[in-house]
Amino acid sequence: MSDDPREDTSEGERFLVIAVDGPAASGKGTIAAGLARHYRLPALDTGLLYRCVGVLMRKAGEDLDDEAVATAAAATLTADQLEDPALRTRAAGELASRVAVHPRVRAALLEFQRTFANQEGGAVLDGRDIGTVIVPDAPAKLYVTATPEVRADRRWKQLAGQGEAVAYEDVLADILKRDARDGGREAAPMRPAADAVLLDTSEMTIEQAADAARRIVEAARARWLKAN
Ligand code: CDP
Repeated sequence: MSDDPREDTSEGERFLVIAVDGPAASGKGTIAAGLARHYRLPALDTGLLYRCVGVLMRKAGEDLDDEAVATAAAATLTADQLEDPALRTRAAGELASRVAVHPRVRAALLEFQRTFANQEGGAVLDGRDIGTVIVPDAPAKLYVTATPEVRADRRWKQLAGQGEAVAYEDVLADILKRDARDGGREAAPMRPAADAVLLDTSEMTIEQAADAARRIVEAARARWLKAN
């Protein structure tokens, strides 16, 4: 038997949509990328969409609280803009969370994400509202968490690796502020879907978290194949 997990699906059948949500620096991006590699699925880091809107607004000197301008910026986004390394900075994360509170910005980005999720063969998407709003019928949903201190330590190391020197305490403060804003907003607040499996990676290495995520997806996939 081949070890290709896609072999037992018929030609052209939708394989699997995997939704990976969770707070900043929880490990969801790494987990989503690992699942995409394992199942040979295309992946979308949806945070980049909001980061891109925030960075475009800042570059144009616009007021981040101006929902109409932010919505217009969201409507112009193209996939190639998501490659910009400037989207990975600490500042871009903060800008993203500021523009992500606007319901019309979220609405403007919805179709792109749904189309990506519903492409033939399946996809992996990571973000804050994938399991709750973007693909509520996704057969596999993970909600990845870790303590704020662990997340701040990971993000601090990641930023240092990118050449961005910043104090650990400042990264922790960023993360706590972002958790409060993302979880407290009215539009698609960050929260686990009722049917998401929680994965706390606080005590896990990257490999352990990736293994645990695969086991969760395998169980979801078995249930899904049985039901379809
Ligand atoms: O990598 P990190 O978790 O720090 O951030 P990200 O996933 O790139 O998301 C940046 C910000 O975009 C978040 O703090 C959210 O405010 C927003 N976001 C969102 O509202 N919905 C998503 N599906 C993805 C990101």
